[in-house]
Order: sequence, then structure tokens, then C-alpha cells
Amino acid sequence: MSPFRPDLFAGRVALLTGGGTGITRGIAEALAAHGCETVLVSRKADHVQKAAREIEDTFHQKCHPIEADVRHPDALEAAAAHVVKTCGRFDILVNGAAGNFLCASADLSPNGFGTVIDIDAKGTFNACRAAYHAWMGANGGSILNISATLHYGGTPAQVHVAAAKAAVDALTRTLAVEWGPRGIRSNAIAPGPIGDTEGARRLFPGEAGERLASLVPTRRLGKIADIAMLALFVLSDAGSNLNGAIIPSDGGLALAGSFSHTLDAVVAAMPKSAQP
Ligand code: HXC
Repeated sequence: MSPFRPDLFAGRVALLTGGGTGITRGIAEALAAHGCETVLVSRKADHVQKAAREIEDTFHQKCHPIEADVRHPDALEAAAAHVVKTCGRFDILVNGAAGNFLCASADLSPNGFGTVIDIDAKGTFNACRAAYHAWMGANGGSILNISATLHYGGTPAQVHVAAAKAAVDALTRTLAVEWGPRGIRSNAIAPGPIGDTEGARRLFPGEAGERLASLVPTRRLGKIADIAMLALFVLSDAGSNLNGAIIPSDGGLALAGSFSHTLDAVVAAMPKSAQP
């Protein structure tokens, strides 16, 4: 049950990258449930079409699928232009597209490192830039980036993701200052481990997830709904004085020593041959 009124985002339009699955799908659903027209961008056509149909059927709000890879700036410029043409405005951008896999740093290829930087960091920049030029630079808007907490400490087997999310944080803060005067708010949510995602099922399967939950001060993993409700707050007028904020939603795990303390859970999830 949402604590927000159902028409919170009525008349608004949001584009979400990576919106077909996981956390960003959850945010898309929450926005649609509160009256927002949504546009989902994913590189997987089947995925994004199915997700858009399901969101329309469930929430009776328009949801448009766009097949595009955030690594291609031209594709995002076309997507942003399409949003303005089709929906007439472009109020909200959620950058959720991300790559992730466990790999010991010494075994990670330069292309493996670069692929995650390309998706998470450069993809976020590409989408922000496209949104700015298509609509937000002239009309204002709100950007929400999905970061992480694993770069607050040192998380083994995640050097590529940690570097990419650190860049996302830097981008969030810089755009907040540079674009704030244009009426664009730029913020990030930093989820800790979220139990009901595909990423968590791969990174912390079974017992590793339970052990991880036992290290969280609240003694539970996060849920997609936790992030979705926080996103509604940040993106709504309730968050109108938030700009450049990077808000952890991790039950206090990062304060308890970050993911360094979860080394055993992460490493236990890796194939023996790949353990550092
Ligand atoms: C080592 C790997 C690898 C793996 C890919 N690579 N997977 N290296 N271990 N498991 C390397 C490849 O060998 C290759 O380098 C390079 O990365 C590119 O791989 P491709 O498969 O050609 O690229 P692509 O098809 O574009 O897909 C890459 C990917 C995908 C998007 C990163 O592998 C992936 O991870 N998909 C999962 C997406 C996902 O779960 N997103 C949610 C993120 S959750 P070489 O040198 O061989 O050419 C998240 C939360 C973080 O971010 C916080 C957690 C708590």
C-alpha cells in the first residue's frame, strides 16, 4: 500500500533506462501507479515491449517501449526526441541501466571493465545529455540516478562496478550544481543489496543472501518496493529541495562497514576457480 496520493505524478512524463526489469521496473510501476506516463528504454526489445504492455494493463497509464542501448548516444537522443514528440513533455529521467557480474580484478579483461563503465557511467551521461537537449535544459526536470554503496568501502570482485558507480555519483553532484539553475534537480539513490532482484539472485544466491541479511543493521535485505517508494519521494514535490543528494537505502549496511564485511558472502558466491 503506497503512502503517496494516487495522482502524485498526474500529467508528468518519465523516461527510465533499464526500465524493463529489476529496480527500475519497480520505479516505473510505482510512477505509473501514481499517474505518470512512462517510457521504458532497454536494449532487449522483447523485454521492454512485454514490460510496457504489463504496466499499461495493470495501471491504466500509457507506457511506451523503446529499444535502445544506453551505450549509443545517438539512440538516446532519438529516444528523448521521441518522448517529447509523442508525450509532449519530459519531466523525469531515471538512469537504471547497469551491467554487473562478479569477477576478480586480476582476471577482469580491459573490455570487461570498460563495458560496465560504458553502460553505467557513460550511459548515464548519454541519457542526461539527451534529456537536457531535448527538453530539460529549457524546461527543467528531475534526474534520478541509481547508484550503489559498494564503492564506499572496497568490494572484492566488483572493481568495474565500484568505479562506474563512483563516476555516477560524481556526475550526479556535478550536474546538480551545473544544471540546478536551469530547474533541473539531479539526485541518486544508492541501494544496498536488494533481495528480490535478478542481480541479487546472481550475486548473493541462497545462503549467501541470508548471511548478508544477518549483517545488515535492520537484519533484512532491501526490497524493490523500498527503492520505488524512495524514488517517488525524491522525484515528487516533497523532494523539491533535494539536489545533488545521494541517498543510501541499505538498512545501514554501509555504516556497519560497507561490503568489506561481506567479503565472505561475495567470494562464496564465486566459482572456486575465480576466487581472489
Ligand atoms: C568476466 C565478463 C563477464 C563475467 C562479461 N564479461 N561477463 N567477464 N566475468 N561474468 C566481459 C566479457 O568477457 C567481455 O570482455 C566484456 O565483458 C563484454 O561482454 P559481452 O558479453 O560481450 O557484453 P554485453 O553483451 O554487452 O553484456 C555485458 C553485461 C552483461 C551487460 C555486463 O554481462 C551483464 O552483466 N548483464 C547483467 C545485467 C544486470 O544484471 N544488471 C543489473 C545490475 S545490478 P572480453 O575481453 O572477453 O571481450 C547492479 C547493482 C550493483 O548494478 C550493486 C550490487 C549490490
